[in-house]
Amino acid sequence: MTAFDINALQSELQGKNPRTILKAALAGFDNIAISFSGAEDVVLIDMALQLNKTVQVFSLDTGRLHPETYRFIEQVRKHYQIEIELLTPDREQLDSFVKQKGLFSFYEDGHQQCCAIRKVEPLRRKLATVDAWITGQRKDQSLDTRAEIPEVQIDSVFSGTGKTLIKFNPLLNWRSAQVWDYIEAYQVPFNSLHQHGFISIGCEPCTRPVLPNQHERAGRWWWEDAAKKECGLHGANLKK
Ligand code: ADX
Ligand code: SF4
Repeated sequence: MTAFDINALQSELQGKNPRTILKAALAGFDNIAISFSGAEDVVLIDMALQLNKTVQVFSLDTGRLHPETYRFIEQVRKHYQIEIELLTPDREQLDSFVKQKGLFSFYEDGHQQCCAIRKVEPLRRKLATVDAWITGQRKDQSLDTRAEIPEVQIDSVFSGTGKTLIKFNPLLNWRSAQVWDYIEAYQVPFNSLHQHGFISIGCEPCTRPVLPNQHERAGRWWWEDAAKKECGLHGANLKK
Protein backbone atom coordinates (compact mmCIF):
# COMPACT_ATOMS: atom_id res chain seq x y z
CA MET A 1 0.00 0.00 0.00
CA THR A 2 1.20 3.49 -0.76
CA ALA A 3 1.05 6.48 1.57
CA PHE A 4 -1.88 7.67 -0.52
CA ASP A 5 -3.83 4.43 0.05
CA ILE A 6 -3.11 4.58 3.75
CA ASN A 7 -4.32 8.16 4.02
CA ALA A 8 -7.53 7.16 2.25
CA LEU A 9 -7.95 4.14 4.54
CA GLN A 10 -7.27 6.30 7.58
CA SER A 11 -10.00 8.77 6.55
CA GLU A 12 -12.39 5.87 6.03
CA LEU A 13 -11.60 4.31 9.43
CA GLN A 14 -11.39 7.49 11.48
CA GLY A 15 -13.56 7.23 14.61
CA LYS A 16 -14.78 3.76 13.70
CA ASN A 17 -15.24 1.03 16.30
CA PRO A 18 -12.50 -1.55 16.99
CA ARG A 19 -14.29 -4.34 15.15
CA THR A 20 -14.57 -2.29 11.95
CA ILE A 21 -10.91 -1.30 12.10
CA LEU A 22 -9.85 -4.88 12.78
CA LYS A 23 -12.02 -6.15 9.97
CA ALA A 24 -10.42 -3.71 7.52
CA ALA A 25 -6.96 -4.73 8.73
CA LEU A 26 -7.64 -8.44 8.28
CA ALA A 27 -9.31 -7.89 4.92
CA GLY A 28 -6.48 -5.73 3.63
CA PHE A 29 -3.56 -7.94 4.68
CA ASP A 30 -3.05 -11.70 4.73
CA ASN A 31 0.34 -11.51 6.35
CA ILE A 32 -0.63 -9.55 9.44
CA ALA A 33 -0.04 -10.23 13.14
CA ILE A 34 -1.47 -9.16 16.47
CA SER A 35 1.09 -8.01 19.01
CA PHE A 36 -0.26 -9.35 22.30
CA SER A 37 1.18 -8.04 25.56
CA GLY A 38 -0.47 -10.57 27.85
CA ALA A 39 -2.84 -8.01 29.36
CA GLU A 40 -6.25 -6.56 28.50
CA ASP A 41 -5.35 -6.37 24.80
CA VAL A 42 -6.61 -9.98 24.74
CA VAL A 43 -9.85 -8.42 23.45
CA LEU A 44 -8.11 -7.99 20.10
CA ILE A 45 -7.59 -11.74 19.87
CA ASP A 46 -11.18 -12.40 20.85
CA MET A 47 -12.52 -10.00 18.22
CA ALA A 48 -10.11 -11.12 15.50
CA LEU A 49 -11.00 -14.77 15.95
CA GLN A 50 -14.63 -13.95 15.38
CA LEU A 51 -13.63 -12.36 12.07
CA ASN A 52 -10.82 -14.56 10.83
CA LYS A 53 -9.62 -17.87 12.20
CA THR A 54 -6.06 -17.62 10.96
CA VAL A 55 -4.59 -14.43 12.36
CA GLN A 56 -1.02 -14.67 13.68
CA VAL A 57 -0.44 -13.70 17.31
CA PHE A 58 2.91 -13.02 18.91
CA SER A 59 4.22 -11.87 22.28
CA LEU A 60 7.58 -10.45 23.19
CA ASP A 61 8.94 -12.71 25.89
CA THR A 62 11.43 -10.39 27.52
CA GLY A 63 12.37 -13.03 30.09
CA ARG A 64 11.18 -10.57 32.76
CA LEU A 65 7.40 -10.95 32.57
CA HIS A 66 5.42 -11.80 35.69
CA PRO A 67 4.73 -15.52 36.31
CA GLU A 68 1.04 -14.56 36.09
CA THR A 69 1.58 -13.19 32.57
CA TYR A 70 3.30 -16.38 31.37
CA ARG A 71 0.39 -18.38 32.80
CA PHE A 72 -2.09 -16.06 31.16
CA ILE A 73 -0.42 -16.41 27.76
CA GLU A 74 -0.80 -20.17 28.12
CA GLN A 75 -4.40 -19.77 29.23
CA VAL A 76 -5.16 -17.69 26.11
CA ARG A 77 -3.40 -20.21 23.89
CA LYS A 78 -5.56 -23.03 25.28
CA HIS A 79 -8.80 -21.08 25.53
CA TYR A 80 -8.76 -20.00 21.89
CA GLN A 81 -6.81 -23.02 20.59
CA ILE A 82 -4.35 -20.74 18.83
CA GLU A 83 -0.61 -20.53 18.41
CA ILE A 84 1.10 -17.66 20.18
CA GLU A 85 4.61 -17.09 18.93
CA LEU A 86 6.98 -16.09 21.72
CA LEU A 87 9.87 -13.95 20.61
CA THR A 88 12.97 -14.01 22.76
CA PRO A 89 15.91 -11.60 22.85
CA ASP A 90 19.09 -12.25 20.90
CA ARG A 91 21.24 -14.47 23.15
CA GLU A 92 24.57 -12.73 22.48
CA GLN A 93 23.26 -9.21 22.92
CA LEU A 94 21.48 -10.18 26.11
CA ASP A 95 24.45 -12.06 27.60
CA SER A 96 26.78 -9.20 26.95
CA PHE A 97 24.33 -6.59 28.34
CA VAL A 98 23.67 -8.56 31.54
CA LYS A 99 27.37 -9.29 32.01
CA GLN A 100 28.20 -5.63 31.71
CA LYS A 101 25.27 -4.07 33.54
CA GLY A 102 23.51 -6.73 35.59
CA LEU A 103 19.80 -7.34 35.86
CA PHE A 104 18.47 -4.03 37.16
CA SER A 105 20.47 -1.30 35.43
CA PHE A 106 17.24 0.37 34.24
CA TYR A 107 16.63 1.76 37.74
CA GLU A 108 19.90 3.67 37.41
CA ASP A 109 20.25 4.70 33.80
CA GLY A 110 16.77 4.29 32.31
CA HIS A 111 14.86 1.54 30.57
CA GLN A 112 15.85 2.26 26.99
CA GLN A 113 18.83 -0.06 26.65
CA CYS A 114 17.17 -3.05 28.29
CA CYS A 115 13.95 -2.52 26.29
CA ALA A 116 16.00 -2.17 23.11
CA ILE A 117 17.48 -5.64 23.65
CA ARG A 118 14.58 -7.45 25.27
CA LYS A 119 11.71 -5.94 23.27
CA VAL A 120 12.62 -3.80 20.30
CA GLU A 121 15.17 -6.05 18.57
CA PRO A 122 12.91 -9.16 18.73
CA LEU A 123 9.99 -7.04 17.55
CA ARG A 124 12.02 -5.72 14.62
CA ARG A 125 12.92 -9.31 13.69
CA LYS A 126 9.25 -10.32 13.71
CA LEU A 127 7.99 -7.26 11.89
CA ALA A 128 10.47 -7.90 9.07
CA THR A 129 8.38 -11.01 8.27
CA VAL A 130 4.91 -9.39 8.08
CA ASP A 131 3.25 -6.68 6.00
CA ALA A 132 1.19 -5.20 8.83
CA TRP A 133 0.73 -5.46 12.57
CA ILE A 134 -2.06 -4.80 15.03
CA THR A 135 -1.55 -3.30 18.47
CA GLY A 136 -3.73 -2.66 21.51
CA GLN A 137 -2.57 0.92 22.03
CA ARG A 138 -5.22 3.34 23.24
CA LYS A 139 -5.24 7.13 23.36
CA ASP A 140 -6.31 7.15 27.01
CA GLN A 141 -3.18 5.24 28.00
CA SER A 142 -1.08 8.38 27.75
CA LEU A 143 -1.86 12.01 27.11
CA ASP A 144 1.85 12.59 26.67
CA THR A 145 2.55 10.01 23.98
CA ARG A 146 -0.64 8.37 22.69
CA ALA A 147 -3.25 11.13 22.36
CA GLU A 148 -2.62 11.47 18.63
CA ILE A 149 -2.33 7.88 17.45
CA PRO A 150 -4.34 7.15 14.28
CA GLU A 151 -6.48 4.12 13.38
CA VAL A 152 -3.93 3.09 10.76
CA GLN A 153 -0.51 4.44 9.95
CA ILE A 154 2.71 3.72 8.12
CA ASP A 155 5.08 2.45 10.78
CA SER A 156 8.07 4.58 9.90
CA VAL A 157 10.16 3.12 12.73
CA PHE A 158 9.90 -0.51 11.62
CA SER A 159 9.51 -0.17 7.85
CA GLY A 160 12.60 -1.56 6.12
CA THR A 161 14.31 -0.60 2.91
CA GLY A 162 11.87 -1.19 0.10
CA LYS A 163 9.12 -2.29 2.47
CA THR A 164 6.34 -0.23 3.98
CA LEU A 165 5.03 -1.70 7.20
CA ILE A 166 1.48 -0.80 8.21
CA LYS A 167 0.31 -0.52 11.80
CA PHE A 168 -3.30 -0.73 12.97
CA ASN A 169 -4.48 0.48 16.38
CA PRO A 170 -8.10 -0.75 16.55
CA LEU A 171 -8.65 0.00 20.26
CA LEU A 172 -7.34 3.57 20.06
CA ASN A 173 -10.64 5.30 20.81
CA TRP A 174 -11.78 2.95 23.56
CA ARG A 175 -11.33 3.93 27.14
CA SER A 176 -10.17 1.36 29.65
CA ALA A 177 -13.77 0.94 30.90
CA GLN A 178 -14.95 -0.13 27.44
CA VAL A 179 -12.24 -2.77 27.22
CA TRP A 180 -13.36 -4.11 30.60
CA ASP A 181 -17.03 -4.04 29.58
CA TYR A 182 -16.09 -6.22 26.61
CA ILE A 183 -14.08 -8.62 28.78
CA GLU A 184 -17.04 -8.94 31.16
CA ALA A 185 -19.72 -9.18 28.47
CA TYR A 186 -17.95 -11.83 26.41
CA GLN A 187 -16.34 -13.67 29.33
CA VAL A 188 -12.88 -13.14 27.93
CA PRO A 189 -10.02 -14.57 30.06
CA PHE A 190 -7.83 -11.94 31.72
CA ASN A 191 -4.47 -11.69 33.46
CA SER A 192 -4.95 -12.35 37.19
CA LEU A 193 -2.67 -9.40 38.01
CA HIS A 194 -5.62 -7.17 37.14
CA GLN A 195 -7.26 -8.49 40.30
CA HIS A 196 -4.35 -7.18 42.35
CA GLY A 197 -4.31 -3.50 41.44
CA PHE A 198 -2.33 -3.77 38.22
CA ILE A 199 -3.81 -1.94 35.25
CA SER A 200 -1.12 -1.47 32.61
CA ILE A 201 1.13 -4.53 32.67
CA GLY A 202 4.65 -4.84 31.31
CA CYS A 203 7.76 -6.51 32.72
CA GLU A 204 7.78 -7.44 36.42
CA PRO A 205 10.61 -5.15 37.59
CA CYS A 206 9.14 -2.19 35.69
CA THR A 207 5.46 -2.50 36.59
CA ARG A 208 3.66 -1.94 39.87
CA PRO A 209 0.03 -1.64 40.92
CA VAL A 210 -1.46 1.83 40.96
CA LEU A 211 -3.40 3.55 43.74
CA PRO A 212 -7.04 4.64 43.31
CA ASN A 213 -7.26 7.54 40.86
CA GLN A 214 -3.67 7.25 39.76
CA HIS A 215 -3.23 7.04 36.00
CA GLU A 216 -2.78 3.47 34.73
CA ARG A 217 0.69 4.11 33.37
CA ALA A 218 1.82 5.59 36.69
CA GLY A 219 2.74 2.00 37.54
CA ARG A 220 5.05 1.62 34.53
CA TRP A 221 8.70 2.77 34.84
CA TRP A 222 7.45 4.83 37.79
CA TRP A 223 10.90 6.29 38.45
CA GLU A 224 10.90 8.02 35.04
CA ASP A 225 9.23 11.08 33.54
CA ALA A 226 5.77 10.42 31.98
CA ALA A 227 6.77 11.79 28.58
CA LYS A 228 9.42 9.07 28.28
CA LYS A 229 7.17 6.13 29.07
CA GLU A 230 7.50 4.46 25.70
CA CYS A 231 9.83 1.52 25.35
CA GLY A 232 10.47 1.70 21.62
CA LEU A 233 7.68 -0.59 20.42
CA HIS A 234 5.71 2.50 19.59
CA GLY A 235 8.63 4.79 18.87
CA ALA A 236 6.59 6.73 16.33
CA ASN A 237 4.56 8.13 19.26
CA LEU A 238 7.50 10.02 20.67
CA LYS A 239 7.59 13.63 19.65
CA LYS A 240 10.83 14.62 17.99
S1 ADX B 1 4.47 -0.58 26.17
O1 ADX B 1 5.15 -0.08 24.97
O2 ADX B 1 4.22 0.46 27.17
O3 ADX B 1 5.10 -1.77 26.74
P1 ADX B 1 1.70 -1.24 26.42
O4 ADX B 1 1.93 -2.14 27.57
O5 ADX B 1 1.07 0.07 26.69
O6 ADX B 1 3.07 -1.01 25.60
O7 ADX B 1 0.87 -2.02 25.33
C1 ADX B 1 0.42 -1.39 24.13
C2 ADX B 1 0.47 -2.41 23.03
O8 ADX B 1 1.84 -2.70 22.71
C3 ADX B 1 -0.12 -3.77 23.38
O9 ADX B 1 -1.52 -3.78 23.24
C4 ADX B 1 0.58 -4.66 22.40
O10 ADX B 1 0.00 -4.56 21.12
C5 ADX B 1 1.98 -4.06 22.36
N1 ADX B 1 2.85 -4.74 23.37
C6 ADX B 1 3.27 -4.26 24.55
N2 ADX B 1 4.03 -5.17 25.20
C7 ADX B 1 4.10 -6.25 24.39
C8 ADX B 1 4.69 -7.54 24.49
N3 ADX B 1 5.42 -7.90 25.54
N4 ADX B 1 4.52 -8.40 23.47
C9 ADX B 1 3.80 -8.06 22.38
N5 ADX B 1 3.20 -6.86 22.24
C10 ADX B 1 3.33 -5.97 23.22
FE1 SF4 C 1 13.85 -4.37 30.57
FE2 SF4 C 1 11.99 -3.19 32.09
FE3 SF4 C 1 12.10 -2.77 29.43
FE4 SF4 C 1 11.29 -5.11 30.44
S1 SF4 C 1 10.26 -3.08 30.66
S2 SF4 C 1 12.64 -4.82 28.76
S3 SF4 C 1 12.69 -5.33 32.21
S4 SF4 C 1 13.62 -2.15 31.00
